[in-house]
Amino acid sequence: MSPLEHCPTARLGDREVKRLGYGAMQLAGPGVFGPPKDPQAALAVLREAVELGVDHIDTSDFYGPHITNQLIRQALHPYPDHLTLVTKVSARRGPDGAWLPAMSPAELTTAVEDNLRNLGLEYLEVVNLRSMHGLHAPAEGSLEEALTALAQLRERGLIRHLGVSNVTPTQVAEARRLVPIVCVQNAYNLANRHDDALIDALAKDGIAYVPFFPLGGFTPLQSKGLDLIAAQLGATPMQVALAWLLQRSPNILLIPGTSNPVHLRENLAAAQLTLPPPVIAQLDQWKALA
Ligand SMILES: NC(=O)c1ccc[n+]([C@@H]2O[C@H](COP(=O)([O-])OP(=O)(O)OC[C@H]3O[C@@H](n4cnc5c(N)ncnc54)[C@H](OP(=O)(O)O)[C@@H]3O)[C@@H](O)[C@H]2O)c1
Repeated sequence: MSPLEHCPTARLGDREVKRLGYGAMQLAGPGVFGPPKDPQAALAVLREAVELGVDHIDTSDFYGPHITNQLIRQALHPYPDHLTLVTKVSARRGPDGAWLPAMSPAELTTAVEDNLRNLGLEYLEVVNLRSMHGLHAPAEGSLEEALTALAQLRERGLIRHLGVSNVTPTQVAEARRLVPIVCVQNAYNLANRHDDALIDALAKDGIAYVPFFPLGGFTPLQSKGLDLIAAQLGATPMQVALAWLLQRSPNILLIPGTSNPVHLRENLAAAQLTLPPPVIAQLDQWKALA
């Protein structure tokens, strides 16, 4: 039986996806730069994710760069109809792997064309504009020029839906005035709750919120209290972290990242974990769990 058989779904654009999906960033080489050490293992993780019921994969052509999308194409093309691939644009990689802004209309057009070619698609289902006004955290700055350029690519039929990423509430409001926005992808997890108000506001408007770093990112969450709660539930700490996010708000879609098949299975099994209210109350006090 698929661990996602009874996984609840939520709206992403005009599609309905399972609320537990997969983030492909960890498939590239160290530092999300260059090829993976074992390309066959990366292909196997992607195939197993879809075999286990994943119908939503998050990627970008700046992972590698190009390599992650090429792996996705090699592993999964021709794509099953129910699979939604979501990508993001606005950055490029320097020769040393640095993350550099690429938010001009010309760079965004090239990025969309690169994504189409490397994924082997005629159009992109959802494209997130990843704000590079801030590198590690959102920073204010207008997204108008970039979103206008993406809206034009949408009118040409190259993109179906737009989202924004690494953004402040002010930028989300600006984006929504300019174009229909179907999702917001920001850093959020048990230990980082900066977007609490934004998540609730988006839920009211039926817009998906997709937390990146749901497990804490490159350094996964660590807490003695979390370990204890997980042991009491017969689950792992990462499963509890994911289950907490699933119960946090119905518009949250998860894309935990892993290159490890054991972690993949563990993460997807979190869809079967229901946290009782006292546990939720404990987890809501993250600082007390450290
Ligand atoms: N929009 C943006 O700016 C942005 C930024 C970052 C990420 N993203 C997207 O968000 C997705 C998720 O973020 P992320 O992958 O960076 O972070 P994450 O999902 O929070 O955590 C990934 C890290 O946790 C480890 N991990 C995964 N499952 C585990 C488990 N069950 N037990 C122990 N360790 C586990 C992974 O290592 P192993 O490979 O060893 O399992 C990896 O080091 C990415 O894949 C990407 O698609 C977007």
